[in-house]
Amino acid sequence: MTDLPVFPEGFVFGAATASYQIEGAAAEDGRGPSIWDTYSHTPGRTHEGDTGDVACDHYHRYPEDVALLRDLGVDSYRFSIAWPRVQPTGQGPANQKGLDFYSRLVDELLEAGIEPAATLYHWDLPQALEDRGGWRVRETAERFGEYAAIVAGHLADRVPRWITLNEPWCSAFLGYSVGRHAPGAQEGTGALAAAHHLLVGHGLAMKALRAAGVREAGITLNLDRNVPATDTLADREAVVRADTQHNLVWTQPLLAGRYPTTEEDTWGELITRQDFRREGDLDLIGQPLDFLGVNYYRPIVVADAPHREPDPARRVATDNRYEERPFPDVRRTAMGWPVVPESFTDLLTALKDRYGDALPPIHITENGTAEHDEPAADGAVHDTDRVAYLHSHLTALREALDAGVDVRGYYVWSLLDNFEWALGYAKRFGVVRVDYDTQERTPKDSYHWYRRLIAAHRG
Ligand code: FCB
Repeated sequence: MTDLPVFPEGFVFGAATASYQIEGAAAEDGRGPSIWDTYSHTPGRTHEGDTGDVACDHYHRYPEDVALLRDLGVDSYRFSIAWPRVQPTGQGPANQKGLDFYSRLVDELLEAGIEPAATLYHWDLPQALEDRGGWRVRETAERFGEYAAIVAGHLADRVPRWITLNEPWCSAFLGYSVGRHAPGAQEGTGALAAAHHLLVGHGLAMKALRAAGVREAGITLNLDRNVPATDTLADREAVVRADTQHNLVWTQPLLAGRYPTTEEDTWGELITRQDFRREGDLDLIGQPLDFLGVNYYRPIVVADAPHREPDPARRVATDNRYEERPFPDVRRTAMGWPVVPESFTDLLTALKDRYGDALPPIHITENGTAEHDEPAADGAVHDTDRVAYLHSHLTALREALDAGVDVRGYYVWSLLDNFEWALGYAKRFGVVRVDYDTQERTPKDSYHWYRRLIAAHRG
């Protein structure tokens, strides 16, 4: 294969998954219910009523999955820890059996020569905490800090890389404003409070991870590359609003030690409704990060639009006078997402331009694509669209490195086909196919392609 991108020595190649999307064993060994159990079991919420009850049965099949990772040749595996396995109601003493599962997984990885990278929160909030207000209330952030301390206390010596939160934008806004993720709320201030409390929870978890002496700790954000539909002032201003809500709400407190300013906050509410903020929060949130995790899938074309809901009292936090438009003339994935690798480079270079030396090293903690892949007559999965996507995005990433962005690693999403949240099992992101009837795993062509790319970097 020619023209494969070449990365510097020490660059980390990885693969990623998340607990609720793959583990199954939802009621086993003392695991408590999470908001995703409740949500997926609520009629009408997920595609065909799919749930994570069984998922990829990874809880029982993890040795086979680690063997797939070993054969793939990855340096690191990013997985997430299900809070309700460790604390079934989100507080109080640890459930030893839950911790034991992650301990076994970590040992299996280390034996295979793979560095574990653990995410503490990939959306499976214990339902008992949601019943007390969820991320709308500060108490959840405090419980999250305690949970982080328990987990780090058990695994810090064996897990070098830690991620506090995965994509808090989704937790706050898809969960509490759009309602398309658990817990399915549609609120204004509730979602803004959730955003803030997630950041506070991140800060408390960082302290717990530091206290446990972990090697590297950071957070993963899904930063959007927003591009204006036209060059009009109205559309460019709409991009500022989209950037504030998707990106600056996180990156300003995390990297600049401040909240978005009046000028950036054309949204308004962040400035005017801040009763959930406390003195000292910015110091907590803005603790130095060893790395920033970035998840990238696609750009978003943004156009000016009126409020969808004219009554301010009923407006949700995502109704901020802009709308998404289709990206013209590019291929779309099975998610309907436009394939625009240059936007990946642009996102990273823009981040560097904005934050300069305040930008920590970056790990791409997710990138990948859902395609309409099916097994061929011989049983193989020729996912040429995924291979092309990965090839072009890794090339775009290499261009960001050439432009001076300090990117240290790349984790493909995902190792396995899995439970794609509200879209259930209909969307397949894996480089390994999972037959949900038999739980058989079949490495796709993209797995073999990625394996060759990694092998080409070994001496
Ligand atoms: C990200 C999520 C991940 C997966 C991919 C497709 O937003 O972090 O769990 O669903 O999208």
